Amino acid sequence: MRRTVIAGNWKMNKTMMEAELFSDSINEYDLSNTKSDQIIFAPSYMLQSLNILLKSSRIEVGCQNMHQYESGAYTGEISADMIKSIGITSILIGHSERRQYFNESDKVVNEKLLLALEKNLTPYLCIGETLEERTAGIMRSTLKNQLVKACKNVKINMANKIIIAYEPIWAIGTGCVSNAEDANIACRNIREIVAEIFDLDIARNMIILYGGSVNPSNIDEILAQSEIDGVLVGGASLDVTSYISLLK
Ligand code: 13P
Repeated sequence: MRRTVIAGNWKMNKTMMEAELFSDSINEYDLSNTKSDQIIFAPSYMLQSLNILLKSSRIEVGCQNMHQYESGAYTGEISADMIKSIGITSILIGHSERRQYFNESDKVVNEKLLLALEKNLTPYLCIGETLEERTAGIMRSTLKNQLVKACKNVKINMANKIIIAYEPIWAIGTGCVSNAEDANIACRNIREIVAEIFDLDIARNMIILYGGSVNPSNIDEILAQSEIDGVLVGGASLDVTSYISLLK
């Protein structure tokens, strides 16, 4: 049985005070009845504090990015060991904004994934096609290309740690959510590709999330899909009322 994961990605948003107000509101709610795994990927500067603020909730705090090397002269970067040293165990890898604005190549994504697994972090590997790729009918081959390259040299006994976030680029922050059935087809394709790369067992058990303009009014339809195990939410995870509706 695959777990349901409701993940928020705050991207480059929220000052410490805003994060404190968010946490105060979360802590006032009884979310003990919610069944999903819950995580917020927060900006690195606040990870440790947010982790403490949300300690009594069921919400885990994850990191949005890390460097592919262990340590060294990489000004402004954050390493896997640094993240681990403050008790963070989950990491987003290869978000399309990292690929697009910071030139993160498939090779770098692969290096980060390998390091995350070696360091026993849970990697949330993001993949997704552009609108051009979708309309050109190459959605599946694009996803396959990203997956094969990202998972190069990943040992099969490590593969079950990976969570995949399918985020079609055209649906991110656009309000243009993928039709739930289309998202399900894409996630089924991903599962088949995972079976080709690893094996059927890994594919059947892999948690696959959908991300892209998810909000409280469309989450139920998305979660009802057979191949979609959860969501990765940007904008709608920032407002505490909307985030609580997503969890509920
Ligand atoms: P939005 O939910 O704002 O479309 O962002 C999705 C996303 O990129 C989550 O990682």
